[in-house]
Amino acid sequence: MSALPGSAAPVDGARADRAPLALDGEPRFAWRGVMLDVARRFRPLPDLYRFVDLVAAHGLNVLQLHLTDDQGWRFEVPRYPRLTEVGARRSGTQVGHGPASTVDDVPHEGWYSQEDLRELVRYAGERGIRVVPEVDVPGHATAILAAYPEFGVGGADAVRERIGEPWKRFGVSDELLNVEDATVAFVCDVLDDVCDVFDSDVVGFGGDEVRKDRWRDDPRTQELMAERGIADEGELQAWFLGRVADHLAAQGRRVVGWDEMLEGGARGIPADAVVASWRGPVGAELGARTGHDVVLCPDLWTYLDYRQSDAATEPIPVGTVLSIEDVATFDPVPADAPAWYADRIVGVQANVWCEHLDTRDRLDYAVFPRLGAFAEVAWNGGPLDWADFATRLPGYLAWLGERGADFRPLDGPRPDQQRPGVPGVPRSREERLAELARLTASLAE
Ligand code: ACM
Repeated sequence: MSALPGSAAPVDGARADRAPLALDGEPRFAWRGVMLDVARRFRPLPDLYRFVDLVAAHGLNVLQLHLTDDQGWRFEVPRYPRLTEVGARRSGTQVGHGPASTVDDVPHEGWYSQEDLRELVRYAGERGIRVVPEVDVPGHATAILAAYPEFGVGGADAVRERIGEPWKRFGVSDELLNVEDATVAFVCDVLDDVCDVFDSDVVGFGGDEVRKDRWRDDPRTQELMAERGIADEGELQAWFLGRVADHLAAQGRRVVGWDEMLEGGARGIPADAVVASWRGPVGAELGARTGHDVVLCPDLWTYLDYRQSDAATEPIPVGTVLSIEDVATFDPVPADAPAWYADRIVGVQANVWCEHLDTRDRLDYAVFPRLGAFAEVAWNGGPLDWADFATRLPGYLAWLGERGADFRPLDGPRPDQQRPGVPGVPRSREERLAELARLTASLAE
């Protein structure tokens, strides 16, 4: 397990500011992560440094930066300047969620230079945090295609006609990269720069929510599949990710990908790939059974953009209810888990998707104080004794307040933390469980 963070980066004890949480002894997991989505919402660098400080204070040691998505590309790549010239700016953004949502006309833009990120990596490393970069392919690619339509499906002219700029809407787009050798080479070029900037031995290549309709309907994609002996689009996804993973392996890096990377069989996915299991237990079990290390980030316990109560006052309520008490019940590796499973669970991660977290205060509202409960689970390995945690909560909230974190009060949002009139799409746990069963059915077979 030496390749995963945990022991690698030294913590500068003099500067480490620890939150008053139960983080004693040796941590249970080597990977104690938070993923921050800077693709949908660019954060100024000072906010990232502050976030690193807060994450380090929670005893966490991985910051996964989700650098690219349909809505924006945030990583400078000199060989492909349009990625940031075009892909880092959109002219408006969806407000709210679901059919009643609207789109504003407020431009949103920003990207990080390679030097910015090198410095961030150094700063985080001094605080015991490994920054794991993520470039999301082959789906979630609208920002890439706005910049370089030749990498899309159906020919550059058609893609240019469909896509003029990064996506202003949220959801799962049907745009994705084509599977030409030149497109794989482009992704590998980008990842060469990623490897140059980030010293993490684990690099994210996304792989989630790939809608394959365009591949299925495109004669050229079908021709390439036939030439390569690829039976279906699921296998094609595995082929694509396998090519990228092989390239990273040649650079001495392991890949981490969302659990969809196991769709289409393990064809081409290196044995040392890390599976980030977000859609219930199925991906984690398959990943572990096929010998992969697994990081658990099940949405029902670790998606910090999900609503914190079912009160009407929660701002833009999405997902299922995930209260701080719910986070505290997260039991990553139950006591009766078989060894073949337990031994492969190398970590846990909280994911902070930022569709609706447009300011630093809204980010704080989503993250704190739930991150305190998550951090104790990550450190100690099991669900919290709520009565015990509750006695410590006031001290933790005071600590957050002293650091200017605009956390959610335990009894609900203050008026200025609400978003009256902005629609969300709250979901029940039952609905989500049914959806997860459907989404992961091909993994369960
Ligand atoms: C994900 O939530 N799309 C990984």
